[in-house]
Amino acid sequence: MQERALPKNFVWGAASSSFQIEGTIPGDGRGPSIWDDFCAQPGKILDGSDGVIACDHLRLWPRDVELLSELGVKAYRFSIAWPRIFPDGRGAPNPAGLDFYKKLIDGLLDKGITPWVTLYHWDLPSALEKKGGWRNRDTALAFADYAAYFVEQLRDRVKHWITHNEPWCVAVLGHRTGEHAPGLKDPRAALEAAHHVLLSHGLAMKRIRELAPDAEAGITLNLNPAYPAHPGKREDEEAAHVYDGDFNRWYLDPVFRASYPKDMMQHYEKTGVIGAKGWDFIHAGDLDTIAQPNDFLGINYYSRAVLGDRGLEEAAARKDPKRYTGMGWEVAPEALQDLFVRLAKEYPAKAYYITENGAAYDDKLTAARQVDDPHRLRYYALHLSQVAQICARGIPLKGYFAWSILDNFEWAYGYEKRFGLVYVDYATQERIPKSSFHWLKEVIAANKVFDVL
Ligand code: FCB
Repeated sequence: MQERALPKNFVWGAASSSFQIEGTIPGDGRGPSIWDDFCAQPGKILDGSDGVIACDHLRLWPRDVELLSELGVKAYRFSIAWPRIFPDGRGAPNPAGLDFYKKLIDGLLDKGITPWVTLYHWDLPSALEKKGGWRNRDTALAFADYAAYFVEQLRDRVKHWITHNEPWCVAVLGHRTGEHAPGLKDPRAALEAAHHVLLSHGLAMKRIRELAPDAEAGITLNLNPAYPAHPGKREDEEAAHVYDGDFNRWYLDPVFRASYPKDMMQHYEKTGVIGAKGWDFIHAGDLDTIAQPNDFLGINYYSRAVLGDRGLEEAAARKDPKRYTGMGWEVAPEALQDLFVRLAKEYPAKAYYITENGAAYDDKLTAARQVDDPHRLRYYALHLSQVAQICARGIPLKGYFAWSILDNFEWAYGYEKRFGLVYVDYATQERIPKSSFHWLKEVIAANKVFDVL
């Protein structure tokens, strides 16, 4: 068995997000978010659930910090609920909200765990959605003000800031397909939202630099490498190129190159997405604002996309847990290495961090209250082997955050999909580390991983 070492000082971490785990306590002062509103609409969440209790992290956070410490991670990535800080998106802050994050952050620091704070992981204050949400340029300004307030309050303790999590999801799932809050099905609105999210990243970066010059800051993109089903077949190659443009380049290019990809601008014009109003939402200077120098790029990676006709055989194979996760996403670890080779060449950064990677599987709690999850363990082993190989090539991949520390509210899937290293029994809120947790703990301690088949 091939043994693969990770670099010294490699940042091992685990991740979560506010809406997915926190829950609410009556009177906690958090304002409603677009995800509360979305959950309240019948049929939007597979199991009809919501975020009212979630993992009850608001009360149980000391236990969750213990679990992170047991796992041996050096870093914990979590997000701030904007409406917990500013219930109406702007205006008067909610002191109880700030207090909660201060306690959590101090609890982490006490255990020697470095907080990595994401300022936006999708829970936009409802009050801002009423004014057009991310379709409204003003939301970008409100985000920069909220970010500045929070950074100023916590800059003594937090040295790692991520402005946004996965702008593609906000734009496309939230505004084009309608699978996520706010549930719009308007492709032009998706481009407007993408632009304002990116603009807000740039505006917030400037404020973070002024307020916390000693901190590291960047953005997290979800990247989904695209492959033609039949390499060399023109239609498939073209489909892969457009998919890559829509999913990856539309976000990478503005952040790294201060421009949107020309071929994709033409594509959205030709396909009628952009319409008669044209690109009126892009103002002079916006792209320079977006392309602020970043200290790192965060990458969330789950799978790849294969474009072209894959046929019936593929659909049947989706049940094989070695090839497909419980989300039906292909297990594609090699594409992770391809992705980093490309990033290093086309979008060189000072540092990269994998800010999410992991898998949902259909976990079963045994009578002995254990969870054996060999497929998740294998998924992690395969991807970590690639991580070690990426580092060995000299690409500055400096850390890896497993998604997720806990089973949690998986957006449109509700609590049906479990991504945790720790099982959550939602009836009792008991936390039960899965076998993948025990395995990853050893990998982290040894700072090396063995190849699996
Ligand atoms: C990512 C999200 C995260 C989680 C994982 C499975 O797109 O950032 O919140 O839902 O997918």
